[in-house]
Amino acid sequence: MPRVVIVSNRVADLRKKSQTGGLAVALADAMRERGGIWFGWSGETKEEAAPAVAETIGRVAAVSLPLSRREVEEYYLGYANSVLWPLFHYRLDLVDHRPNFLDTYAAVNRRFATELVPYLEEDDLVWVQDYHLMPLAARLRELGCRNRIGFFLHIPFPPPDMLAATSNHREMVEWLLEFDLVGLQTSTDVGNLTRYLEEHMGLEEIGGAYRHGSRQVRVERFPIGIDPVGFAAMAREEPDDVAIDLMRRKLLGQRQIIGVDRLDYSKGLPERLRAYGRLLVQHPEYERVVSFLQIAPPTREDVDAYAEIRLELEALAGSINGRFAEFNWTPIRYIHRPVSREKLAPLLRASDVGFVTPLRDGMNLVAKEYVAAQDVEDPGVLVLSRFAGAAEELDAALLVNPYDVDEMSRRLHQALEMPLAERRRRHEELLEKVMRQNATAWLESFLEVLERPDGNQEAGTADQVAA
Ligand code: ADP
Ligand code: F6P
Repeated sequence: MPRVVIVSNRVADLRKKSQTGGLAVALADAMRERGGIWFGWSGETKEEAAPAVAETIGRVAAVSLPLSRREVEEYYLGYANSVLWPLFHYRLDLVDHRPNFLDTYAAVNRRFATELVPYLEEDDLVWVQDYHLMPLAARLRELGCRNRIGFFLHIPFPPPDMLAATSNHREMVEWLLEFDLVGLQTSTDVGNLTRYLEEHMGLEEIGGAYRHGSRQVRVERFPIGIDPVGFAAMAREEPDDVAIDLMRRKLLGQRQIIGVDRLDYSKGLPERLRAYGRLLVQHPEYERVVSFLQIAPPTREDVDAYAEIRLELEALAGSINGRFAEFNWTPIRYIHRPVSREKLAPLLRASDVGFVTPLRDGMNLVAKEYVAAQDVEDPGVLVLSRFAGAAEELDAALLVNPYDVDEMSRRLHQALEMPLAERRRRHEELLEKVMRQNATAWLESFLEVLERPDGNQEAGTADQVAA
């Protein structure tokens, strides 16, 4: 079995049992088991850039480097999270392109490539993760790297016309053409990228791959998953403080809707709070009975759009609570702090409705975790945005338009009143998919396609001979 080298913006802290963020959650367990190298940013910010250092954690060599203050500002907060993140989440209105962002993004990718090359062996499979590192294969190839290199995009890929709203759209797609395999979350994403390749670049698919020059690239869908068995086990273990709180609420005959998201504008949080407020207006019988727990830890706070969404959410939660709260009942409990997954899992299990309504999301693992956490005898109901990648598989959920506050409020009502037989039927269907398309299946299917021989090996040899 060839060694796998994962490259991602951040290296997950493999000493920690649980991670935050879809990428780290999906990869940490698999890498701990399989071993290999995990290369990326250490998460530290230094005045000056510094070289990578390696550390062995179990079977994984974690090779990480700090970034300079300027790199954090212009590469991570800048090009990655103020240009690519909003653009790829269909939010052209939030794209904030400033001088230096693209240059520093390119420079950090060059630095990653230079620092990574000494660690690579001939047969390693290199697997690059997410939008921070799209130019990495091109930079590695320039340094003579002939390894198989795959790329997986954890976020959506936008339609060609939307991508074309940025000046360097062609360059972005050319970066991707240097990989052997590009993996995307959904068939919509695959359709968006392949339409760009065909309509904007005139490329043609032959035998499952797009040829360009002497190379070819495959573009395929690999929906990411979770570890459903491990998560379900975690959900059954109730840490003390959560257990006490849940018991108290159950004794009072109360019911709970839950949302768990990084506080990101892509997650549709204001619309979600409004839908809950609308529910209380339309169904006064839910007052003092149905509460809403929203856990939304801070993320990327130095980007203006994130500071704004936080203020908006705080004002909304305050106004809904001000309107409906009683001396002994608070409708919305909004927690703006990280909460460990050991606590999240039993909270998801104890909630009658999982309310997952991003305006746009690559996959959304919380939706899958909600399904895995449920009691199969008496499961809760998942209300899911049709614009989350997960909706492509989880169509037995109550699917909603996350922009339509009225529809969401009606679906919440339907979820709260759903008979047990229907809840079980829907849950069984959802669980089957979450079990099948799990994190291990995702990882293995990607690596299997990446390893599959194609014309690129010959192209590599021809280049070598020519050189
Ligand atoms: P994203 O990758 O955009 O953050 P996902 O829903 O795909 O969204 O993944 C988030 C992951 O982070 C989930 O596995 C979730 O359980 C985990 N996580 C851990 N703690 C938290 C928290 N407090 N809030 C949100 N997500 C958390
Ligand atoms: O899953 C999307 C993603 O951007 C990952 O690449 C990232 O690790 C996660 O969300 C959390 O974001 P950040 O690393 O910016 O805190």
